[in-house]
Amino acid sequence: MSVVALVSAKHSPGVTVATLAMASVWPWRVLVAECDPAGGDIIAGYLRAQLPQRGGLLTAALAARREPLGEGLWQHATGLTSDGRVSLLSGLADPSKGWVLQQAWPALIDAFQEAAGEQPTDVLADCGRLGAIGTPVQLLSRADVVLLVTRPSPIDLARVRPRLQAMQEGLPPPPVGPELAVLLIGGSARVAREVSAVLGVPVAATLAEDSDSAAVFAFGEPPRHGFASGALMTSTRQAVEQLQRLLTRRALAGAGKPGEAAPAEVPPVPASGGAR
Ligand SMILES: Nc1ncnc2c1ncn2[C@@H]1O[C@H](COP(=O)(O)OP(=O)(O)OP(=O)(O)O)[C@@H](O)[C@H]1O
Ligand SMILES: [Mg+2]
Repeated sequence: MSVVALVSAKHSPGVTVATLAMASVWPWRVLVAECDPAGGDIIAGYLRAQLPQRGGLLTAALAARREPLGEGLWQHATGLTSDGRVSLLSGLADPSKGWVLQQAWPALIDAFQEAAGEQPTDVLADCGRLGAIGTPVQLLSRADVVLLVTRPSPIDLARVRPRLQAMQEGLPPPPVGPELAVLLIGGSARVAREVSAVLGVPVAATLAEDSDSAAVFAFGEPPRHGFASGALMTSTRQAVEQLQRLLTRRALAGAGKPGEAAPAEVPPVPASGGAR
């Protein structure tokens, strides 16, 4: 089971949309874990509040503090597809309950890694904005890949740079720690090369700027004609292929094996310095 964590610096670049879009085309079973300390958006947004807010990360955290969850993690998840391929561990309805998560992260991460059972399964974790109070640094340190989601504008890159640097200093380097890469929202291949040069980390993939398709995942808008072959989903399928290659390379290198996990204490990244 691989854990891919998605984070941003500021300015809502599209972490939640990218997480849901990638999950929708993930090649096997995937759990979307809403670990954003600011609270979950998927039930109110993508699901249009059609599902009651029950279970989710909070009840999983409370249960994981009592005993190892293993495959019991799925009891706290909600199916997003009828075939059970995509499930959601919904985020906090009340962010003030974040202290429960802080104490439960080690047990929750164990549960993420053990919940697969016999089936190929991965976790896509929406971890919100770096530097927010409650950023799940323990999850980031034990993820296989941390994707820093950003748009390529100068102001976005200026926000990203110090947080990326803090992450590089705070997280153990691969192969023990996660691979760090950028997931770009919008921009050409040339822009991706420039961003990679400016930030000094690879751009794992670029998702197209496509507001109509993004609104399906952000607000539960009905997909328009051509959604599946549109810019967002086409670029998302490519992004997932690129990510799978990265995960395969890492698995073949034997990186991030249990027992090589990073220490639980990771220096905090600097505060974001802006209102959410
Ligand atoms: N690829 C995209 N193209 C165009 N618009 C997008 C794209 N991804 C996201 N958006 C839009 O940007 C807004 C923010 O998206 P989203 O909620 O995914 O951001 P976020 O980074 O999770 O924000 P927050 O940190 O507030 O949780 C939404 O209105 C969404 O429709
Ligand atoms: Mg979000």
